[in-house]
Amino acid sequence: MCGIIGYAGDECAVPIIVDGLKKLEYRGYDSAGIAIFDGGGFNVVKQKGRLAALEEKLENTSLCGNMGIGHTRWATHGEPSDVNSHPHLGSGSKIAVVHNGIIENYKQLKARLERRGITFASQTDSEVVAQLAEYYYKGDLLDAVIKTANALEGSYALGIMCLEEPDVLIAVKKDNPLIVGVSQNANFIASDVPAILKHTNQVYYLEDKEIAVLTKNGVEFFNTDKEPLTKQIETITWSVDSAEKGGYPHFMLKEIMEQPKVLRDTIQTEITKLPDISQFNKIVITACGSAYNAGVVSKYVFERLCRFPSIEVDLASEFRYKDACVDEKTLVILVSQSGETADTIAAMREAKSKGAVTLSIVNVVGSTLAKEADYTVYTAAGPEIAVATTKAFSTQLAVLYKLAVKFAVDLQKISQEEAKTLSDEIATIPDKVAEILTHIDFIQKYASTCIGYKSIFFIGRNIDYAIALEGSLKLKEISYIHSEAYAGGELKHGTISLVEEDTLVVAISCCQRLYPKIFSNMEQVISRGAKVFLVSNAAEAEEHDKLSLLKLPDIHELFSPSLSAIVLQLFSYYVAANKGCDIDKPRNLAKSVTVE
Ligand code: AGP
Repeated sequence: MCGIIGYAGDECAVPIIVDGLKKLEYRGYDSAGIAIFDGGGFNVVKQKGRLAALEEKLENTSLCGNMGIGHTRWATHGEPSDVNSHPHLGSGSKIAVVHNGIIENYKQLKARLERRGITFASQTDSEVVAQLAEYYYKGDLLDAVIKTANALEGSYALGIMCLEEPDVLIAVKKDNPLIVGVSQNANFIASDVPAILKHTNQVYYLEDKEIAVLTKNGVEFFNTDKEPLTKQIETITWSVDSAEKGGYPHFMLKEIMEQPKVLRDTIQTEITKLPDISQFNKIVITACGSAYNAGVVSKYVFERLCRFPSIEVDLASEFRYKDACVDEKTLVILVSQSGETADTIAAMREAKSKGAVTLSIVNVVGSTLAKEADYTVYTAAGPEIAVATTKAFSTQLAVLYKLAVKFAVDLQKISQEEAKTLSDEIATIPDKVAEILTHIDFIQKYASTCIGYKSIFFIGRNIDYAIALEGSLKLKEISYIHSEAYAGGELKHGTISLVEEDTLVVAISCCQRLYPKIFSNMEQVISRGAKVFLVSNAAEAEEHDKLSLLKLPDIHELFSPSLSAIVLQLFSYYVAANKGCDIDKPRNLAKSVTVE
């Protein structure tokens, strides 16, 4: 996934674009580039490496102009290199393009253009867009863009400039996010809100195949029949600070610390529009990564409260290709922070094609999953910049708990009184999370002793196993330490063979009734030389030389993942910080995987 930004205004575009790209680096950062129209022609500066390298290169130039586009890349086609960086130019250097997405028919288009004598400079799919737009350009950029968009298959968010129409910046998208920001003396395009929030909070969300034509004086919208469109402007309520680090060393730590507030905001938000759960005989929860782990946690909650006969949790990348048994009597719940994850979007579309009713739980207003699902419930996590999700994950859990309570009442599996008791318990989560955050020093100190491990295992039983999955993912993705999560009862079925002297096992135990079981699992691994870090609310839990303990506040076991998750997030954060990892931008990862 990549980040794109464009500017048309009265000021020099270079610092505005570079600053915007900094806010988009979480979307990809193996190379970056900028194209500026300086009144005479295009000036393109682009290269492999982090944005900081590009910024340094730009400081040594006098590049300036009031129109420009910028790009920060996460390579999909063509290795990270200078030539494969964006912006891409047509071979006549007449058209400049930045692209986020994947052009699935680029090989056919490239061959067709090469047969017409056009030579390509890069190995990317994106260059095809610049070459095709230049090939179609006959004096009207909008016409050329429409023809190009109609020829492309796959996903794209595009910013396009033309040498012969230097005051115009055109944007078009399909399956990837793109917003248009408007202000008094400048207009913008961007992949995400934080890139332009310091300049404007007035934005338009482009729908698929809608075209925005920007100049510094205004914006017009068209469809691919070149018919003018009228769009609704939206006001972003996030503050600029909420998209900045706020004095923390990393966005991830800031976002961990924001959890009491965003959980309170999410829990207090009433869920209004929901389907009638009694019309369904099956629930499928499908997502990717941490959002999938939230789904695994919620399955325990839905089963216990709703007594629903059939609840499945599927990885979206699996669901989309398995010819799932879903129909109009299936509710498919899609969980996603970005609302732009390609596999989850594809899973939603697959479910809808089979007649299922879809409900998305997303954090980004106007995202594809929000727009296309039959129902949408928003988490109120605010902008989450760190690649490793924390506050969005926690708010997903909160929404899923609320849904389970609501559905359980509607299905008459619990009384209104029981629902009130459960809702009151959910309402205690923010304060209990705040209490756990006061143990940050203990966790930081303990984590600093854990950076030498080659592998760290996470074990739990029942709902604790579900959150162990998330703890393991968090550790892997930011500290690069191998990790696995196991159901405690599974150890003796093979995995305990991995336990040896000085193995570290993180045990989660918040199901009081199962503490004796996980306790014996801990004894099993300790007797084979392991050390244990126990995260538990069990009254009987006691530290000793092989066992470190972090005691959690009591809470209904179904909601305990919201508390244990905080410890696991901080543990992973400080292991990674002590290892000197690039926590907010882990290698090979991107914040939202908008490609397969
Ligand atoms: C989690 O820390 C990762 N960043 C990743 O697994 C993420 O949860 C996954 O890619 C799904 O993203 P989404 O919630 O935006 O759909």
